[in-house]
Amino acid sequence: MEKIKKVLISETDVKQRVKELAAEISHDYKGKTVTLICILSGASVFFADLVRELDLDVRFEFMSVSSYGGGTVTSGEVKILKDVNHPIAGQHVIIVEDIIDSGCTLSYLKRVLAQRNPASIKVCTILDKPSRRKVNFKGEYVGFEIPDEFVIGYGLDYDGKYRNLKDVCVLELTED
Ligand code: IMP
Ligand code: MG
Repeated sequence: MEKIKKVLISETDVKQRVKELAAEISHDYKGKTVTLICILSGASVFFADLVRELDLDVRFEFMSVSSYGGGTVTSGEVKILKDVNHPIAGQHVIIVEDIIDSGCTLSYLKRVLAQRNPASIKVCTILDKPSRRKVNFKGEYVGFEIPDEFVIGYGLDYDGKYRNLKDVCVLELTED
Protein backbone atom coordinates (compact mmCIF):
# COMPACT_ATOMS: atom_id res chain seq x y z
CA MET A 1 0.00 0.00 0.00
CA GLU A 2 0.99 3.60 -0.45
CA LYS A 3 -0.10 6.99 0.79
CA ILE A 4 0.66 10.62 0.03
CA LYS A 5 3.06 11.85 2.71
CA LYS A 6 3.28 15.55 1.90
CA VAL A 7 3.25 18.19 -0.80
CA LEU A 8 6.82 18.79 -1.92
CA ILE A 9 6.18 21.48 -4.56
CA SER A 10 2.84 23.25 -4.73
CA GLU A 11 0.87 23.85 -7.90
CA THR A 12 1.58 27.60 -7.52
CA ASP A 13 5.33 27.08 -7.29
CA VAL A 14 5.33 24.66 -10.25
CA LYS A 15 3.40 27.16 -12.39
CA GLN A 16 5.81 29.95 -11.50
CA ARG A 17 8.87 27.84 -12.30
CA VAL A 18 7.41 26.65 -15.63
CA LYS A 19 6.97 30.31 -16.63
CA GLU A 20 10.60 31.03 -15.71
CA LEU A 21 11.90 28.04 -17.68
CA ALA A 22 9.78 29.03 -20.68
CA ALA A 23 11.11 32.60 -20.53
CA GLU A 24 14.68 31.31 -20.44
CA ILE A 25 14.09 28.96 -23.39
CA SER A 26 12.25 31.67 -25.38
CA HIS A 27 15.22 33.98 -24.82
CA ASP A 28 17.86 31.37 -25.74
CA TYR A 29 16.10 30.29 -28.96
CA LYS A 30 14.80 33.69 -30.05
CA GLY A 31 13.99 33.68 -33.79
CA LYS A 32 14.46 29.90 -34.12
CA THR A 33 12.01 27.06 -34.60
CA VAL A 34 12.35 24.45 -31.88
CA THR A 35 11.37 20.80 -31.97
CA LEU A 36 10.16 19.77 -28.52
CA ILE A 37 10.20 16.06 -27.81
CA CYS A 38 7.85 15.02 -25.02
CA ILE A 39 8.88 11.81 -23.29
CA LEU A 40 5.67 9.91 -22.59
CA SER A 41 3.90 9.51 -20.31
CA GLY A 42 5.50 11.31 -17.36
CA ALA A 43 6.38 14.55 -19.15
CA SER A 44 2.94 15.03 -20.73
CA VAL A 45 1.57 17.41 -18.09
CA PHE A 46 4.75 19.51 -17.89
CA PHE A 47 5.02 19.55 -21.70
CA ALA A 48 1.46 20.87 -22.11
CA ASP A 49 2.12 23.67 -19.62
CA LEU A 50 5.59 24.54 -20.93
CA VAL A 51 4.70 24.79 -24.62
CA ARG A 52 1.89 27.26 -23.93
CA GLU A 53 4.32 29.61 -22.17
CA LEU A 54 6.87 29.59 -25.02
CA ASP A 55 7.14 32.62 -27.24
CA LEU A 56 8.64 30.64 -30.15
CA ASP A 57 7.71 28.64 -33.24
CA VAL A 58 7.62 25.05 -32.08
CA ARG A 59 7.03 21.55 -33.42
CA PHE A 60 5.78 18.74 -31.20
CA GLU A 61 7.16 15.22 -31.16
CA PHE A 62 6.41 12.38 -28.76
CA MET A 63 8.60 9.46 -27.74
CA SER A 64 8.02 6.58 -25.40
CA VAL A 65 10.91 4.69 -23.83
CA SER A 66 11.38 2.02 -21.20
CA SER A 67 14.52 1.14 -19.32
CA TYR A 68 15.80 -2.41 -19.42
CA GLY A 69 15.85 -4.26 -16.09
CA GLY A 70 13.85 -1.69 -14.18
CA GLY A 71 16.65 0.84 -14.17
CA THR A 72 19.07 -1.34 -12.20
CA VAL A 73 21.31 -2.08 -15.18
CA THR A 74 24.42 0.04 -15.45
CA SER A 75 24.52 -0.11 -19.26
CA GLY A 76 21.89 2.61 -19.21
CA GLU A 77 20.37 1.20 -22.36
CA VAL A 78 16.74 2.03 -22.96
CA LYS A 79 14.25 0.56 -25.37
CA ILE A 80 12.48 2.97 -27.72
CA LEU A 81 8.80 1.94 -27.68
CA LYS A 82 7.67 4.86 -29.82
CA ASP A 83 10.00 7.02 -31.87
CA VAL A 84 9.49 10.56 -33.22
CA ASN A 85 7.35 10.85 -36.37
CA HIS A 86 9.73 13.04 -38.38
CA PRO A 87 13.51 13.28 -38.89
CA ILE A 88 15.20 15.76 -36.55
CA ALA A 89 18.31 16.43 -38.69
CA GLY A 90 19.14 20.15 -38.80
CA GLN A 91 16.56 21.02 -36.13
CA HIS A 92 16.95 22.61 -32.71
CA VAL A 93 15.75 19.89 -30.38
CA ILE A 94 14.73 20.07 -26.74
CA ILE A 95 13.92 16.82 -24.96
CA VAL A 96 11.23 17.44 -22.33
CA GLU A 97 11.26 15.04 -19.36
CA ASP A 98 9.52 14.77 -16.00
CA ILE A 99 12.52 13.82 -13.86
CA ILE A 100 16.20 12.93 -14.06
CA ASP A 101 16.94 10.18 -11.56
CA SER A 102 19.84 7.80 -12.33
CA GLY A 103 20.37 9.75 -15.57
CA CYS A 104 20.41 6.50 -17.59
CA THR A 105 17.32 7.22 -19.68
CA LEU A 106 18.34 10.70 -20.77
CA SER A 107 22.03 10.08 -21.31
CA TYR A 108 21.12 7.20 -23.65
CA LEU A 109 18.33 9.09 -25.38
CA LYS A 110 20.36 12.25 -25.87
CA ARG A 111 23.21 10.19 -27.36
CA VAL A 112 20.88 8.35 -29.75
CA LEU A 113 19.15 11.55 -30.89
CA ALA A 114 22.45 13.42 -31.25
CA GLN A 115 23.53 10.78 -33.79
CA ARG A 116 20.69 11.96 -36.04
CA ASN A 117 22.49 15.29 -36.59
CA PRO A 118 20.15 17.86 -35.07
CA ALA A 119 21.38 21.49 -35.23
CA SER A 120 21.41 21.38 -31.42
CA ILE A 121 20.05 19.21 -28.63
CA LYS A 122 19.26 20.10 -25.02
CA VAL A 123 17.27 18.65 -22.15
CA CYS A 124 14.55 20.33 -20.11
CA THR A 125 13.20 18.59 -17.01
CA ILE A 126 10.85 19.83 -14.33
CA LEU A 127 12.48 17.71 -11.60
CA ASP A 128 16.01 16.50 -10.90
CA LYS A 129 17.34 14.16 -8.20
CA PRO A 130 21.10 14.76 -8.55
CA SER A 131 21.97 12.56 -5.56
CA ARG A 132 20.66 9.46 -7.43
CA ARG A 133 22.92 9.61 -10.49
CA LYS A 134 24.47 6.40 -11.79
CA VAL A 135 25.82 8.13 -14.86
CA ASN A 136 27.16 11.64 -15.18
CA PHE A 137 24.34 13.69 -16.68
CA LYS A 138 23.16 17.28 -16.48
CA GLY A 139 20.02 18.85 -17.93
CA GLU A 140 20.34 22.34 -19.43
CA TYR A 141 16.95 23.51 -18.10
CA VAL A 142 16.02 22.16 -14.66
CA GLY A 143 12.90 23.18 -12.76
CA PHE A 144 13.65 21.95 -9.24
CA GLU A 145 16.39 19.89 -7.64
CA ILE A 146 14.72 17.58 -5.14
CA PRO A 147 15.98 15.18 -2.45
CA ASP A 148 16.05 11.40 -2.83
CA GLU A 149 12.35 10.77 -2.27
CA PHE A 150 9.81 9.07 -4.51
CA VAL A 151 7.50 11.73 -5.90
CA ILE A 152 4.19 11.61 -7.74
CA GLY A 153 1.86 14.09 -9.38
CA TYR A 154 2.30 16.66 -12.15
CA GLY A 155 2.67 13.76 -14.58
CA LEU A 156 4.68 11.42 -12.38
CA ASP A 157 3.14 8.11 -11.41
CA TYR A 158 3.29 5.26 -8.99
CA ASP A 159 1.95 2.08 -10.59
CA GLY A 160 0.28 4.20 -13.28
CA LYS A 161 -1.63 6.35 -10.78
CA TYR A 162 -1.44 9.93 -9.43
CA ARG A 163 -0.32 11.57 -12.68
CA ASN A 164 -3.20 14.06 -12.52
CA LEU A 165 -2.33 15.57 -9.13
CA LYS A 166 -1.63 19.28 -9.41
CA ASP A 167 1.11 19.35 -6.75
CA VAL A 168 4.31 17.32 -6.71
CA CYS A 169 3.93 15.08 -3.65
CA VAL A 170 6.11 12.63 -1.76
CA LEU A 171 4.74 9.10 -1.70
CA GLU A 172 5.16 6.82 1.28
CA LEU A 173 5.02 3.07 0.94
CA THR A 174 3.32 1.42 3.93
CA GLU A 175 3.25 -2.17 5.19
CA ASP A 176 -0.48 -2.95 4.76
P1 IMP B 1 16.42 7.56 -14.90
O1 IMP B 1 16.81 6.84 -16.15
O2 IMP B 1 16.79 6.77 -13.67
O3 IMP B 1 16.92 8.97 -14.82
O4 IMP B 1 14.87 7.48 -14.86
C1 IMP B 1 14.01 8.47 -15.12
C2 IMP B 1 12.62 7.89 -15.10
O5 IMP B 1 12.35 7.16 -13.89
C3 IMP B 1 11.64 9.02 -15.11
O6 IMP B 1 11.30 9.36 -16.44
C4 IMP B 1 10.49 8.49 -14.31
O7 IMP B 1 9.59 7.81 -15.16
C5 IMP B 1 11.08 7.49 -13.36
N1 IMP B 1 11.24 8.08 -12.00
C6 IMP B 1 12.40 8.37 -11.39
N2 IMP B 1 12.18 8.87 -10.17
C7 IMP B 1 10.84 8.92 -10.01
C8 IMP B 1 9.98 9.38 -8.93
O8 IMP B 1 10.40 9.85 -7.86
N3 IMP B 1 8.65 9.26 -9.16
C9 IMP B 1 8.13 8.76 -10.32
N4 IMP B 1 8.89 8.33 -11.33
C10 IMP B 1 10.23 8.39 -11.18
MG1 MG C 1 9.33 8.86 -17.34
